[in-house]
Amino acid sequence: MRSPKDFFRPLALGAPDPVREIPVRPSRMIHFFPPSVEKMRAKVPDIAPTVDILLGNLEDGVPASDKEAARAGMVEVGRNVDIGDTQLWSRVNSLDSPWFLDDVTALVSEIGHNLDVIMVPKVEGPEDIHYVDRLLAQLEAKAELAQPILVHAILETARGVANVEEICGASPRMQGLSLGPADLAANRRMKTTRVGGGHPGYLVRDDPAEGAEPAQAEGRATHQQDLWHYTIARMVDACVMHGILPFYGPFGDIADTVACEDQFRNAYLLGCVGAWSLHPVQIGVAKKVFSPDPAEVAHATRVIEAMGDGTGAIMLDGKMEDDASVKQCRVVVELAKSLAQRDHELASAYGFGATS
Ligand code: GLV
Ligand code: MG
Repeated sequence: MRSPKDFFRPLALGAPDPVREIPVRPSRMIHFFPPSVEKMRAKVPDIAPTVDILLGNLEDGVPASDKEAARAGMVEVGRNVDIGDTQLWSRVNSLDSPWFLDDVTALVSEIGHNLDVIMVPKVEGPEDIHYVDRLLAQLEAKAELAQPILVHAILETARGVANVEEICGASPRMQGLSLGPADLAANRRMKTTRVGGGHPGYLVRDDPAEGAEPAQAEGRATHQQDLWHYTIARMVDACVMHGILPFYGPFGDIADTVACEDQFRNAYLLGCVGAWSLHPVQIGVAKKVFSPDPAEVAHATRVIEAMGDGTGAIMLDGKMEDDASVKQCRVVVELAKSLAQRDHELASAYGFGATS
């Protein structure tokens, strides 16, 4: 057992103090780029201002033969490219891979002062986070970093989902979680063969018409269901309980921006703050979905104003508003205000001054 008093002490002599609160910064999209590819590194200065988070990916998607080049490319970007107030993250290889230790050592020692978050894939339980936590503290002390690097875990194994609450609470460094539907589907032995999104076979069907043969399919509409509903809802509860941020992960069908938008919106409505963008076309989708709609913000502002001190109940446009609905409205308006600080187009769509 660990005393609560020790929880906020550095895990290595000379390491920076752990954070007490996870900073809530605009995080609508985590945009992935492959740092091993020179052409992609060259695009970083142009892409960075268009995204909230830029992530150099060292894990899946990078061939084994390019792992070292990806690490070196990430170090080059972290050292030489000024990405302003866009967050810089990196996804390292998994804890059971031959690359993890060198990935973390190189990133913290070489570019630790510029790196906000390390994304750790395939996290299975709190013991994985404890290992990363101590290792980061040792490396931060050695590199004389002033700020601790935060940790974002991908939820992509059945054991990880079963341990999700303990993972979220394993360290003050825990910044958030992403759903990793591709690895999770494989690990759970789901029978899908795609990266995220729904599946036409996962459905419910209308009852047969009165007196009709039940074994007939004709005339009975089907409704596709969301394969990820349970996991996202569970992830959101675990994150909120521990004051950290939930994200939807990848949507692999790049051409299908319509279904991508639907999947992102389900996650947004359930409480996620953002999703991954794997291609520039998904940046706009994430921006649209994870920024509250101006009409919704105007409605929420109206409810807040009409509710005065926020207690009691009123009727507005035929609907009952009370202490609980005003709290939902505050969530929307606070998010809009925080995004407006970074996104001036949004600020004017919301009718806020850029600094309100
Ligand atoms: C992401 O890493 C996934 O496996 O979906
Ligand atoms: Mg994965």
